Amino acid sequence: MRPVARLRRVQLLVTGGMGFIGVNFVRSTLAARPDVRVTVLDKMTYAANADSLDGADPSAAGDTDSRVRLVVGDVADAAVVDPLVAEADVVVHFAAESHNDNSLRDPSPFVQTNLVGTFTLLEAIRRHGTRYHHISTDEVYGDLELDDPGRFTPDTPYNPSSPYSATKAGSDLLVRAWVRSFRVQATISNCSNNYGPYQHVEKFIPRQITNVLAGLRPKLYGAGQNVRDWIHVDDHNDAVWTIIERGRIGETYLIGADGESDNLTVLRTVLELMGQPADAFDHVTDRAGHDLRYAIDASKLRQELGWTPKYADLRSGLARTIEWYRDNRTWWEAGKAGIEQRYAQGGQ
Ligand code: NAD
Ligand code: DAU
Repeated sequence: MRPVARLRRVQLLVTGGMGFIGVNFVRSTLAARPDVRVTVLDKMTYAANADSLDGADPSAAGDTDSRVRLVVGDVADAAVVDPLVAEADVVVHFAAESHNDNSLRDPSPFVQTNLVGTFTLLEAIRRHGTRYHHISTDEVYGDLELDDPGRFTPDTPYNPSSPYSATKAGSDLLVRAWVRSFRVQATISNCSNNYGPYQHVEKFIPRQITNVLAGLRPKLYGAGQNVRDWIHVDDHNDAVWTIIERGRIGETYLIGADGESDNLTVLRTVLELMGQPADAFDHVTDRAGHDLRYAIDASKLRQELGWTPKYADLRSGLARTIEWYRDNRTWWEAGKAGIEQRYAQGGQ
Protein backbone atom coordinates (compact mmCIF):
# COMPACT_ATOMS: atom_id res chain seq x y z
CA MET A 1 0.00 0.00 0.00
CA ARG A 2 1.52 3.33 -1.10
CA PRO A 3 0.92 6.33 1.18
CA VAL A 4 -1.57 8.49 -0.75
CA ALA A 5 -0.22 11.84 0.43
CA ARG A 6 3.20 11.10 -1.09
CA LEU A 7 2.09 9.83 -4.48
CA ARG A 8 3.18 12.13 -7.33
CA ARG A 9 0.43 11.02 -9.72
CA VAL A 10 -2.79 9.65 -8.29
CA GLN A 11 -5.27 7.57 -10.30
CA LEU A 12 -8.68 7.94 -8.67
CA LEU A 13 -11.72 5.78 -9.23
CA VAL A 14 -14.86 7.73 -8.29
CA THR A 15 -18.09 5.74 -8.28
CA GLY A 16 -21.28 7.77 -8.69
CA GLY A 17 -19.21 10.65 -10.04
CA MET A 18 -22.04 11.90 -12.26
CA GLY A 19 -24.38 12.49 -9.29
CA PHE A 20 -24.57 15.57 -7.07
CA ILE A 21 -21.75 15.14 -4.54
CA GLY A 22 -19.59 12.95 -6.78
CA VAL A 23 -19.50 15.43 -9.67
CA ASN A 24 -18.67 18.29 -7.32
CA PHE A 25 -15.86 16.10 -5.95
CA VAL A 26 -14.52 15.37 -9.44
CA ARG A 27 -14.75 19.00 -10.54
CA SER A 28 -13.03 20.46 -7.47
CA THR A 29 -10.37 17.72 -7.54
CA LEU A 30 -9.46 18.36 -11.19
CA ALA A 31 -9.37 22.12 -10.55
CA ALA A 32 -7.13 21.95 -7.48
CA ARG A 33 -4.95 18.87 -8.05
CA PRO A 34 -3.09 18.80 -11.37
CA ASP A 35 -1.47 15.42 -10.60
CA VAL A 36 -4.75 13.57 -10.22
CA ARG A 37 -6.44 11.60 -13.01
CA VAL A 38 -10.02 10.45 -12.49
CA THR A 39 -12.07 7.55 -13.78
CA VAL A 40 -15.77 7.95 -13.05
CA LEU A 41 -17.82 4.75 -12.84
CA ASP A 42 -21.52 5.61 -13.04
CA LYS A 43 -24.61 3.69 -14.10
CA MET A 44 -26.21 6.95 -15.33
CA THR A 45 -29.46 6.38 -13.47
CA TYR A 46 -32.19 9.05 -13.41
CA ALA A 47 -30.02 10.86 -10.77
CA ALA A 48 -27.07 11.40 -13.12
CA ASN A 49 -26.83 14.24 -15.59
CA ALA A 50 -24.60 13.79 -18.64
CA ASP A 51 -23.90 17.55 -18.79
CA SER A 52 -22.44 17.79 -15.31
CA LEU A 53 -18.85 17.07 -16.33
CA ASP A 54 -18.80 19.66 -19.13
CA GLY A 55 -15.60 21.72 -18.83
CA ALA A 56 -14.57 19.81 -15.69
CA ASP A 57 -10.88 19.52 -16.58
CA PRO A 58 -9.50 23.05 -16.82
CA SER A 59 -6.14 21.75 -18.11
CA ALA A 60 -7.60 19.84 -21.10
CA ALA A 61 -7.32 21.23 -24.63
CA GLY A 62 -9.82 18.62 -25.88
CA ASP A 63 -11.41 15.31 -24.93
CA THR A 64 -8.30 13.33 -25.91
CA ASP A 65 -5.99 14.73 -23.24
CA SER A 66 -8.61 15.14 -20.51
CA ARG A 67 -7.68 13.87 -17.05
CA VAL A 68 -11.21 12.53 -16.55
CA ARG A 69 -12.97 9.65 -18.28
CA LEU A 70 -16.45 8.23 -17.77
CA VAL A 71 -17.15 4.50 -17.70
CA VAL A 72 -20.88 3.81 -17.81
CA GLY A 73 -21.47 0.71 -15.73
CA ASP A 74 -22.91 -0.79 -12.57
CA VAL A 75 -20.97 -0.86 -9.33
CA ALA A 76 -22.60 -4.23 -8.64
CA ASP A 77 -21.07 -5.71 -11.82
CA ALA A 78 -17.80 -7.41 -10.79
CA ALA A 79 -16.57 -7.71 -14.38
CA VAL A 80 -16.72 -3.93 -14.80
CA VAL A 81 -15.50 -3.06 -11.32
CA ASP A 82 -12.47 -5.36 -11.02
CA PRO A 83 -10.21 -3.90 -13.77
CA LEU A 84 -11.06 -0.34 -12.71
CA VAL A 85 -10.09 -1.05 -9.11
CA ALA A 86 -6.93 -2.82 -10.30
CA GLU A 87 -5.65 0.33 -12.04
CA ALA A 88 -6.64 2.77 -9.24
CA ASP A 89 -4.54 4.09 -6.35
CA VAL A 90 -7.63 5.26 -4.45
CA VAL A 91 -11.33 4.41 -4.77
CA VAL A 92 -13.94 6.89 -3.49
CA HIS A 93 -17.38 5.29 -3.38
CA PHE A 94 -20.23 7.79 -3.80
CA ALA A 95 -22.53 5.64 -5.98
CA ALA A 96 -25.84 4.94 -4.29
CA GLU A 97 -29.56 5.20 -4.58
CA SER A 98 -29.81 8.28 -2.36
CA HIS A 99 -33.40 9.51 -2.00
CA ASN A 100 -35.52 8.49 1.00
CA ASP A 101 -38.86 9.10 -0.75
CA ASN A 102 -37.88 6.76 -3.59
CA SER A 103 -36.82 4.07 -1.11
CA LEU A 104 -40.33 4.17 0.39
CA ARG A 105 -41.87 3.61 -3.07
CA ASP A 106 -39.47 0.83 -4.13
CA PRO A 107 -36.64 -0.37 -1.87
CA SER A 108 -35.29 -2.91 -4.34
CA PRO A 109 -32.66 -0.79 -6.21
CA PHE A 110 -31.45 0.45 -2.81
CA VAL A 111 -30.67 -3.10 -1.68
CA GLN A 112 -29.02 -3.89 -5.01
CA THR A 113 -26.83 -0.79 -5.40
CA ASN A 114 -26.13 0.20 -1.80
CA LEU A 115 -25.55 -3.30 -0.41
CA VAL A 116 -24.63 -5.57 -3.35
CA GLY A 117 -22.76 -2.70 -5.05
CA THR A 118 -20.64 -1.99 -1.96
CA PHE A 119 -19.98 -5.72 -1.48
CA THR A 120 -18.84 -6.04 -5.11
CA LEU A 121 -16.48 -3.10 -4.73
CA LEU A 122 -15.08 -4.38 -1.43
CA GLU A 123 -14.26 -7.74 -2.96
CA ALA A 124 -12.27 -6.00 -5.72
CA ILE A 125 -10.57 -3.77 -3.11
CA ARG A 126 -9.62 -6.91 -1.18
CA ARG A 127 -8.13 -8.56 -4.27
CA HIS A 128 -6.06 -5.54 -5.30
CA GLY A 129 -5.15 -3.96 -1.92
CA THR A 130 -6.41 -0.55 -3.06
CA ARG A 131 -7.03 2.37 -0.66
CA TYR A 132 -10.80 2.79 -0.25
CA HIS A 133 -12.93 5.62 1.09
CA HIS A 134 -16.59 4.89 1.78
CA ILE A 135 -19.09 7.76 1.59
CA SER A 136 -21.97 7.37 4.00
CA THR A 137 -24.62 9.40 5.77
CA ASP A 138 -25.61 10.58 9.24
CA GLU A 139 -28.99 8.88 8.67
CA VAL A 140 -27.50 5.56 9.79
CA TYR A 141 -27.87 6.86 13.35
CA GLY A 142 -31.65 7.38 13.11
CA ASP A 143 -32.97 10.67 14.47
CA LEU A 144 -32.83 12.89 17.57
CA GLU A 145 -35.54 14.70 19.53
CA LEU A 146 -35.72 18.44 18.84
CA ASP A 147 -34.64 19.25 22.42
CA ASP A 148 -31.97 16.54 22.74
CA PRO A 149 -28.76 18.31 23.87
CA GLY A 150 -26.70 15.56 22.21
CA ARG A 151 -25.55 15.17 18.62
CA PHE A 152 -24.40 12.15 16.59
CA THR A 153 -20.86 10.96 17.33
CA PRO A 154 -18.92 7.97 15.91
CA ASP A 155 -20.07 6.05 19.02
CA THR A 156 -23.81 6.60 18.49
CA PRO A 157 -25.52 3.22 17.89
CA TYR A 158 -26.84 2.56 14.39
CA ASN A 159 -30.64 2.90 14.22
CA PRO A 160 -31.70 3.58 10.61
CA SER A 161 -35.34 4.43 9.83
CA SER A 162 -35.89 4.10 6.08
CA PRO A 163 -34.96 1.49 3.45
CA TYR A 164 -32.41 4.03 2.18
CA SER A 165 -30.70 4.57 5.53
CA ALA A 166 -30.91 0.85 6.40
CA THR A 167 -29.01 -0.06 3.22
CA LYS A 168 -26.43 2.66 3.88
CA ALA A 169 -26.01 1.35 7.44
CA GLY A 170 -25.57 -2.17 6.07
CA SER A 171 -22.95 -0.97 3.61
CA ASP A 172 -20.99 0.72 6.43
CA LEU A 173 -21.04 -2.54 8.39
CA LEU A 174 -19.74 -4.44 5.37
CA VAL A 175 -16.80 -2.03 5.20
CA ARG A 176 -16.06 -2.45 8.91
CA ALA A 177 -16.15 -6.24 8.57
CA TRP A 178 -13.82 -6.17 5.53
CA VAL A 179 -11.37 -3.98 7.50
CA ARG A 180 -11.38 -6.33 10.47
CA SER A 181 -11.48 -9.68 8.66
CA PHE A 182 -9.50 -8.94 5.50
CA ARG A 183 -7.49 -5.86 6.56
CA VAL A 184 -8.67 -3.74 3.66
CA GLN A 185 -7.30 -0.17 3.74
CA ALA A 186 -10.60 1.64 4.26
CA THR A 187 -11.99 4.74 5.94
CA ILE A 188 -15.65 5.74 6.32
CA SER A 189 -17.29 9.16 6.52
CA ASN A 190 -20.86 9.91 7.58
CA CYS A 191 -21.98 13.36 6.47
CA SER A 192 -25.07 15.46 7.08
CA ASN A 193 -27.35 17.07 4.44
CA ASN A 194 -25.46 18.63 1.52
CA TYR A 195 -26.57 21.54 -0.62
CA GLY A 196 -25.01 23.35 -3.58
CA PRO A 197 -24.85 23.18 -7.40
CA TYR A 198 -25.69 20.07 -9.47
CA GLN A 199 -28.12 18.65 -6.87
CA HIS A 200 -31.04 16.73 -8.36
CA VAL A 201 -34.37 18.61 -8.33
CA GLU A 202 -36.06 15.81 -6.34
CA LYS A 203 -34.20 16.97 -3.19
CA PHE A 204 -35.59 19.58 -0.77
CA ILE A 205 -33.58 22.74 -1.52
CA PRO A 206 -33.31 22.44 -5.33
CA ARG A 207 -36.95 21.35 -5.52
CA GLN A 208 -38.11 24.55 -3.84
CA ILE A 209 -35.75 26.81 -5.83
CA THR A 210 -36.74 25.29 -9.17
CA ASN A 211 -40.44 25.32 -8.22
CA VAL A 212 -40.22 29.08 -7.79
CA LEU A 213 -38.24 29.44 -11.04
CA ALA A 214 -40.81 27.27 -12.87
CA GLY A 215 -43.79 29.21 -11.48
CA LEU A 216 -44.88 26.38 -9.13
CA ARG A 217 -45.50 26.64 -5.39
CA PRO A 218 -42.85 25.13 -3.07
CA LYS A 219 -43.94 22.06 -1.10
CA LEU A 220 -43.28 21.53 2.61
CA TYR A 221 -43.76 18.14 4.25
CA GLY A 222 -45.97 18.35 7.35
CA ALA A 223 -45.39 21.41 9.54
CA GLY A 224 -41.74 21.83 8.52
CA GLN A 225 -40.38 21.34 12.05
CA ASN A 226 -37.89 18.64 10.99
CA VAL A 227 -34.28 19.74 11.43
CA ARG A 228 -31.41 19.00 9.06
CA ASP A 229 -27.72 19.88 9.62
CA TRP A 230 -26.83 21.60 6.32
CA ILE A 231 -23.31 21.60 4.88
CA HIS A 232 -22.08 23.01 1.57
CA VAL A 233 -21.04 20.22 -0.81
CA ASP A 234 -17.53 21.72 -1.21
CA ASP A 235 -16.97 21.50 2.56
CA HIS A 236 -18.05 17.83 2.48
CA ASN A 237 -15.66 17.06 -0.36
CA ASP A 238 -12.79 18.96 1.25
CA ALA A 239 -13.31 16.80 4.36
CA VAL A 240 -13.25 13.65 2.19
CA TRP A 241 -9.81 14.60 0.83
CA THR A 242 -8.63 15.35 4.38
CA ILE A 243 -9.66 11.83 5.43
CA ILE A 244 -8.11 10.20 2.35
CA GLU A 245 -4.78 11.91 3.05
CA ARG A 246 -4.66 11.98 6.84
CA GLY A 247 -7.36 9.63 8.15
CA ARG A 248 -6.51 6.51 10.11
CA ILE A 249 -7.34 3.20 8.40
CA GLY A 250 -10.43 1.55 9.84
CA GLU A 251 -11.75 4.78 11.36
CA THR A 252 -15.11 6.47 10.93
CA TYR A 253 -15.25 10.28 10.69
CA LEU A 254 -18.44 12.34 10.98
CA ILE A 255 -18.63 15.37 8.67
CA GLY A 256 -20.79 18.36 9.57
CA ALA A 257 -20.58 22.15 9.71
CA ASP A 258 -22.91 23.09 12.61
CA GLY A 259 -25.65 24.03 10.14
CA GLU A 260 -28.82 22.94 11.94
CA SER A 261 -32.01 24.53 10.64
CA ASP A 262 -35.65 23.43 10.46
CA ASN A 263 -37.26 22.99 7.06
CA LEU A 264 -39.72 25.87 7.48
CA THR A 265 -36.83 28.28 8.19
CA VAL A 266 -34.85 27.04 5.18
CA LEU A 267 -37.91 27.38 2.93
CA ARG A 268 -38.72 30.90 4.23
CA THR A 269 -35.08 31.94 3.57
CA VAL A 270 -35.30 30.62 -0.01
CA LEU A 271 -38.61 32.47 -0.54
CA GLU A 272 -37.20 35.72 0.84
CA LEU A 273 -34.01 35.47 -1.26
CA MET A 274 -36.17 34.88 -4.34
CA GLY A 275 -38.46 37.84 -3.64
CA GLN A 276 -41.51 35.69 -2.77
CA PRO A 277 -44.08 36.22 0.04
CA ALA A 278 -43.33 34.21 3.22
CA ASP A 279 -46.52 32.15 2.84
CA ALA A 280 -46.14 31.32 -0.88
CA PHE A 281 -45.90 27.55 -0.39
CA ASP A 282 -48.12 24.48 0.18
CA HIS A 283 -48.10 22.11 3.14
CA VAL A 284 -48.22 18.59 1.64
CA THR A 285 -48.46 15.00 2.91
CA ASP A 286 -45.63 14.19 5.32
CA ARG A 287 -43.02 11.51 4.55
CA ALA A 288 -43.76 8.13 6.19
CA GLY A 289 -41.43 7.52 9.15
CA HIS A 290 -39.97 11.04 8.66
CA ASP A 291 -36.78 11.47 10.72
CA LEU A 292 -37.19 14.44 13.08
CA ARG A 293 -33.68 15.82 13.54
CA TYR A 294 -30.10 15.12 12.46
CA ALA A 295 -27.14 16.82 14.15
CA ILE A 296 -23.44 16.08 13.72
CA ASP A 297 -20.62 16.42 16.23
CA ALA A 298 -17.58 16.67 13.92
CA SER A 299 -15.00 17.18 16.72
CA LYS A 300 -13.02 14.06 15.81
CA LEU A 301 -12.49 15.29 12.24
CA ARG A 302 -11.73 18.83 13.38
CA GLN A 303 -9.39 17.94 16.25
CA GLU A 304 -7.64 14.83 14.93
CA LEU A 305 -7.30 15.87 11.28
CA GLY A 306 -7.47 19.67 11.58
CA TRP A 307 -10.39 20.10 9.15
CA THR A 308 -12.60 23.20 9.26
CA PRO A 309 -15.53 24.14 6.99
CA LYS A 310 -15.23 27.23 4.78
CA TYR A 311 -18.94 27.93 4.15
CA ALA A 312 -20.21 28.82 7.62
CA ASP A 313 -23.23 30.87 6.58
CA LEU A 314 -26.24 28.91 5.22
CA ARG A 315 -28.04 32.06 4.02
CA SER A 316 -25.22 33.18 1.72
CA GLY A 317 -24.67 29.59 0.55
CA LEU A 318 -28.37 29.41 -0.36
CA ALA A 319 -28.14 32.72 -2.24
CA ARG A 320 -25.25 31.35 -4.36
CA THR A 321 -27.13 28.10 -4.94
CA ILE A 322 -30.23 30.00 -6.12
CA GLU A 323 -28.00 31.92 -8.56
CA TRP A 324 -26.61 28.64 -9.90
CA TYR A 325 -30.09 27.21 -10.61
CA ARG A 326 -31.12 30.53 -12.21
CA ASP A 327 -28.04 30.49 -14.46
CA ASN A 328 -28.26 26.79 -15.36
CA ARG A 329 -31.90 26.20 -16.35
CA THR A 330 -30.95 23.86 -19.18
CA TRP A 331 -29.21 21.58 -16.66
CA TRP A 332 -32.43 20.94 -14.66
CA GLU A 333 -35.42 21.88 -16.79
CA ALA A 334 -35.78 18.66 -18.82
CA GLY A 335 -36.38 16.37 -15.82
CA LYS A 336 -38.43 18.76 -13.69
CA ALA A 337 -41.98 18.02 -14.88
CA GLY A 338 -41.56 14.26 -14.49
CA ILE A 339 -40.34 14.61 -10.91
CA GLU A 340 -43.23 16.90 -9.96
CA GLN A 341 -45.71 14.49 -11.57
CA ARG A 342 -44.33 11.63 -9.47
CA TYR A 343 -44.54 13.71 -6.28
CA ALA A 344 -48.12 14.77 -7.11
CA GLN A 345 -49.17 11.11 -7.41
CA GLY A 346 -48.18 10.63 -3.75
CA GLY A 347 -49.85 13.86 -2.59
CA GLN A 348 -46.50 15.61 -2.24
P1 NAD B 1 -27.11 11.21 -6.21
O1 NAD B 1 -28.35 10.41 -6.18
O2 NAD B 1 -27.18 12.63 -6.66
O3 NAD B 1 -26.02 10.50 -7.15
C1 NAD B 1 -25.81 9.12 -7.11
C2 NAD B 1 -24.99 8.73 -8.35
O4 NAD B 1 -24.73 7.32 -8.27
C3 NAD B 1 -25.72 8.98 -9.69
O5 NAD B 1 -24.85 9.55 -10.62
C4 NAD B 1 -26.15 7.58 -10.13
O6 NAD B 1 -26.24 7.43 -11.53
C5 NAD B 1 -25.02 6.73 -9.54
N1 NAD B 1 -25.42 5.34 -9.34
C6 NAD B 1 -26.59 4.88 -8.78
N2 NAD B 1 -26.60 3.53 -8.81
C7 NAD B 1 -25.42 3.13 -9.37
C8 NAD B 1 -24.86 1.86 -9.65
N3 NAD B 1 -25.51 0.72 -9.36
N4 NAD B 1 -23.64 1.83 -10.22
C9 NAD B 1 -22.97 2.96 -10.54
N5 NAD B 1 -23.46 4.20 -10.31
C10 NAD B 1 -24.68 4.27 -9.72
O7 NAD B 1 -26.49 11.09 -4.76
P2 NAD B 1 -25.66 12.16 -3.90
O8 NAD B 1 -26.61 13.03 -3.17
O9 NAD B 1 -24.61 12.73 -4.74
O10 NAD B 1 -25.00 11.17 -2.82
C11 NAD B 1 -23.75 10.56 -3.08
C12 NAD B 1 -23.35 9.72 -1.88
O11 NAD B 1 -23.28 10.54 -0.72
C13 NAD B 1 -24.33 8.60 -1.54
O12 NAD B 1 -23.60 7.49 -1.13
C14 NAD B 1 -25.14 9.17 -0.38
O13 NAD B 1 -25.62 8.14 0.44
C15 NAD B 1 -24.09 10.00 0.31
N6 NAD B 1 -24.57 11.15 1.10
C16 NAD B 1 -25.40 12.07 0.53
C17 NAD B 1 -25.76 13.20 1.26
C18 NAD B 1 -26.65 14.28 0.65
O14 NAD B 1 -27.05 15.19 1.37
N7 NAD B 1 -26.97 14.23 -0.62
C19 NAD B 1 -25.31 13.35 2.57
C20 NAD B 1 -24.47 12.37 3.13
C21 NAD B 1 -24.09 11.28 2.37
O1 DAU C 1 -28.63 13.49 6.11
C1 DAU C 1 -28.02 13.09 4.94
C2 DAU C 1 -29.06 12.71 3.91
O2 DAU C 1 -29.63 13.94 3.45
C3 DAU C 1 -28.49 11.91 2.74
O3 DAU C 1 -28.05 10.68 3.22
C4 DAU C 1 -29.55 11.69 1.65
O4 DAU C 1 -28.96 11.06 0.53
C5 DAU C 1 -30.09 13.04 1.24
O5 DAU C 1 -31.14 12.88 0.30
C6 DAU C 1 -30.62 13.80 2.47
O6 DAU C 1 -31.78 13.11 3.02
P1 DAU C 1 -33.08 13.91 3.48
O7 DAU C 1 -34.23 12.97 3.43
O8 DAU C 1 -32.84 14.65 4.74
O9 DAU C 1 -33.13 15.01 2.28
P2 DAU C 1 -34.35 15.58 1.40
O10 DAU C 1 -33.74 16.65 0.54
O11 DAU C 1 -35.14 14.54 0.74
O12 DAU C 1 -35.28 16.28 2.49
C7 DAU C 1 -34.77 17.24 3.42
C8 DAU C 1 -35.91 17.60 4.37
O13 DAU C 1 -36.91 18.33 3.65
C9 DAU C 1 -36.60 16.40 4.95
O14 DAU C 1 -36.98 16.70 6.30
C10 DAU C 1 -37.87 16.25 4.09
C11 DAU C 1 -38.19 17.67 3.70
N1 DAU C 1 -38.82 17.89 2.39
C12 DAU C 1 -38.27 17.26 1.29
C13 DAU C 1 -38.78 17.48 0.04
C14 DAU C 1 -38.20 16.79 -1.19
C15 DAU C 1 -39.87 18.77 2.25
O15 DAU C 1 -40.37 19.36 3.23
N2 DAU C 1 -40.37 19.00 1.01
C16 DAU C 1 -39.87 18.39 -0.12
O16 DAU C 1 -40.38 18.68 -1.22
